[in-house]
Amino acid sequence: MHGLLDSTATETESTHTLQDDASTECLGKHLFDATAIDGETPNDLAKIGSDKWTRYPNCIGAFIAEMDFGLAPCIQEAMIGAVQRCSLGYIPDPLKRQVAEACAHWQQRRFGWNVDPDCIRPVPDVMEAYEIFLREFVGAGNAIIVPTPAYMPFLSVPLLYGVKVIEIPMLQRKGGWEFDFTAIEDAFRQGCKAFVLCNPHNPIGKVLTREEMLALSARAERFDVRVFSDEIHASFVFDDAVHTPFASINETTARQAITATSVSKAFNVPGTKCAQVILTNPDDYALWMRKAEWSEHQTATIGAVATIAAYEHGGEWFDEMFPYVLRNRDYVDEQMRTRFATVGYVRPQGTYIAWLDFLPLGLHDPAAFFLDKAKVALTDGEACGRIGQGCVRMNFAMPYPLLQECFDRMYRALFSAGIV
Ligand SMILES: Cc1ncc(COP(=O)(O)O)c(C=O)c1O
Repeated sequence: MHGLLDSTATETESTHTLQDDASTECLGKHLFDATAIDGETPNDLAKIGSDKWTRYPNCIGAFIAEMDFGLAPCIQEAMIGAVQRCSLGYIPDPLKRQVAEACAHWQQRRFGWNVDPDCIRPVPDVMEAYEIFLREFVGAGNAIIVPTPAYMPFLSVPLLYGVKVIEIPMLQRKGGWEFDFTAIEDAFRQGCKAFVLCNPHNPIGKVLTREEMLALSARAERFDVRVFSDEIHASFVFDDAVHTPFASINETTARQAITATSVSKAFNVPGTKCAQVILTNPDDYALWMRKAEWSEHQTATIGAVATIAAYEHGGEWFDEMFPYVLRNRDYVDEQMRTRFATVGYVRPQGTYIAWLDFLPLGLHDPAAFFLDKAKVALTDGEACGRIGQGCVRMNFAMPYPLLQECFDRMYRALFSAGIV
């Protein structure tokens, strides 16, 4: 696998630091308690205080991409340790370096990518990385291709930077979702030089194959296009799908990519504000250091502590938690094949998000319908692009009994309205 900047990441341990003291203490205490999660009620979850469970009181929160599965003990302990050490100042360089090394280790161990920690830089979150990409790499007056349905800010944020969005709907084929390469190539030919790759793809759950990425890369090469590769959901791939980092494929993809990732989805710490960009094009590095210094500075120290703990010691927690997500995905799948068989749906290969199309049932605004009639809060598909009319985005990373309740409520609402 390829990381243009000299591939040196290995499984070797980084040098001893204060951070290690906090993280090693928790080794062995990595249990994920599925029974406890099953017992969580909406009330319990609302008390935790997340946006997911407080924005729509008395509703099941299935809209925002957070999991209801608690925290890995090693993350909790590392964060508590940082507080006890009063280690909450601005992020220092040694901690940035540890984040980079921990991220490189994770990429190596989980995805077989030997990426050089020297090319990994911190940012508060993936969307900040996207903003830097738009501002410094794409530039006002230019355009970016966003395959739709898309994670909502991919469509809205470019407009803040004077960047035009070209929505290119994904095509639904028998075997699943596919890129519309004809439309993509046309847009490249007309001068568009930027592309958002979201892999695994929120909200459709598609996991790209190497071949698909190579097909994209070949076209990007012809027209000198840069690819923002959002791999925040990389750890969530099901069945025989495999996550391949776009930049890891070969020298060309490494040069085309700006990769953004974070532990925020896999370990549910999006509020701790520490993501990473992986700069595998050497020309990007100098630009990044000139233009992104302020963003790096805004990365949270406590988030860096959480990130290092997650990458270095959270793997076992993740591996224990993951079957719970898979079981939920299977439940969604079963519902879609039975009670909701007339709803448009493609089984997610990754992420913890499902895309449900209620247009075949004549529902034009299913998000509003289910919020009102079922007390289930879903994302309005139209926020994910024009293709999303009549669709909703559903986060299924919730306690299993609540997921069952979700589908029961939705079915009852459809039944009462005479729709099924
Ligand atoms: C595909 C994708 N990218 C980015 C984000 C946001 O990540 P961050 O909080 O690091 O900006 C999300 C959150 O749901 C996401 O699903």
